[in-house]
Parts: sequence; structure tokens; C-alpha cells
Amino acid sequence: MNPSSTPFSALIRTASHEQHVEAETSTFMSDLLGGRLGVDAYARYTEQLWFVYEALESGVRELSGDPVAGPFVQPELMRLASLERDLAHLRGPGWRDGLTALPATREYAERVAECARTWPGGYVAHHYTRYLGDLSGGQIIRGKAEQTWGFARKGDGVRFYVFEDIGNPAAFKRGYRELLDGLPVDDLEKQRIVAECRRAFALNTGVFGALGEEFRISA
Ligand code: HEM
Repeated sequence: MNPSSTPFSALIRTASHEQHVEAETSTFMSDLLGGRLGVDAYARYTEQLWFVYEALESGVRELSGDPVAGPFVQPELMRLASLERDLAHLRGPGWRDGLTALPATREYAERVAECARTWPGGYVAHHYTRYLGDLSGGQIIRGKAEQTWGFARKGDGVRFYVFEDIGNPAAFKRGYRELLDGLPVDDLEKQRIVAECRRAFALNTGVFGALGEEFRISA
């Protein structure tokens, strides 16, 4: 694909497609969505997400005026409060006491935090990888989780996947792709952002790998 004539939203989507399939079909995700794992595995996964979203969202106010990352910082996307409600439901009121990041999660969260601090374009790559995914495949995960572990529809346990303030996800995603297409950066920086997106996918796959080790299904 010719980077300068292809809309950036299409470029980043195509460039990460293979890794998307890899993430989707990872052993942990397949087992989780196939209903082969207990709610404990889902809770452990949700805990890992807490570290990632803490890194994505805690220092975000400083980025809101940035010409590159600023337009992406939208309150209706923020997930940390929903994750915390889910964790209180899954683990109980003391959920913070048992919260630990796997080494792969720590690596992921540290990279996100580093981008948030030092590289707005890199932050956009991580933002895209998580939030556009949550608005898309996240909905499939929510449905499976409700079905498998009996959470109330869009209720406690799956609030992370429920974007209360986004009435029309398809329209929101269109607007998001327009933001990507209008990013005020040159082609070289676009390539760097695509590379960071691939790295973001690899970091996710790393977390799935570690979770897969922890929740191995005995044959
Ligand atoms: C089993 C798990 C997953 C399923 C079933 C799934 C499914 C999907 C589906 C159906 C779409 C297309 C939505 C559309 O065209 O509007 C999508 C898009 C997306 N997913 Fe996933 N996904 C999964 C895991 C992941 C993971 C782990 C990530 C990364 C952390 C991710 C990131 C994305 C992104 C960034 C998009 C947007 C692509 C674009 O249109 O630019 N997904 N996913």
C-alpha cells in the first residue's frame, strides 16, 4: 500500500490485520470465548486490563491539548471507572489488595505510559489498538462473558465493554477513523505510528500468552 495515498485509518487497519487474527485466535482468547475457562481467568484478565487503562488514562489530561493526541482524548471512552466496578464485582471490595500485574502486563503498561509521557503519536497507536478494539470485538467478548459466567446484560462484571455515553458506536468509529485520517503528521511519523500499533498488538499477545500459561486447560 502506498502510504501517502491511502487513508491512514485503512493503512493502520491493514498493517495490524495479521496480528489481530493472532490475538483473536490466541489460546487464551479462544479458551475464554469458547467457554472453557472459569470466571477466575476472566477476572485475572480484567485485572491485567486495569494496568493498561491506568497507563492510558491516568496522565491523559496533559495530552488533551496536544495537536496529535489531544483530539483522541475523549471522556466517553474512559474505561478505568468501569473496570474498577467490574473488579469490585469480580473480586469483592478488597479487589485492590490482590491486584498484581503479570510481567507481560507490566511491560505493556510501561510502554503505554512512556508513549503518553514522551510521544503523542505513539500514544495514538496504543489508543487505537485498545479503544477501537473495545468498541468492536469487545462487544463479542461481552456477549460471551454474559453467557458463560451469567453476568447481567451490560451489568457488573462487563461494564468495561459498555460505552454508556456512545449512543451509536458505528458513527463513533467513523468519526474516529476521520481523526486518524486527519492526523497532522508526515509520512515518516505515520510509519512510526503503524510500527507502534504492531508493537501494541504484540504486547497484547504477550499478555494473552502469559494468561494462557496461568490458565492452562489440562487435556
Ligand atoms: C477474540 C477477541 C477479538 C474479537 C472477536 C475481535 C473482533 C473484532 C471485529 C469483529 C472487528 C471489526 C469491527 C469493525 O469492522 O468495525 C475488530 C476490530 C478491531 N479489533 Fe478486534 N477482536 C478481538 C480481539 C482484539 C484484540 C486483542 C485487539 C487489540 C488489543 C483488537 C483490536 C481491534 C482493533 C484496533 C480493531 C479496529 C480495526 C479497524 O477497523 O481499524 N481486537 N475486532
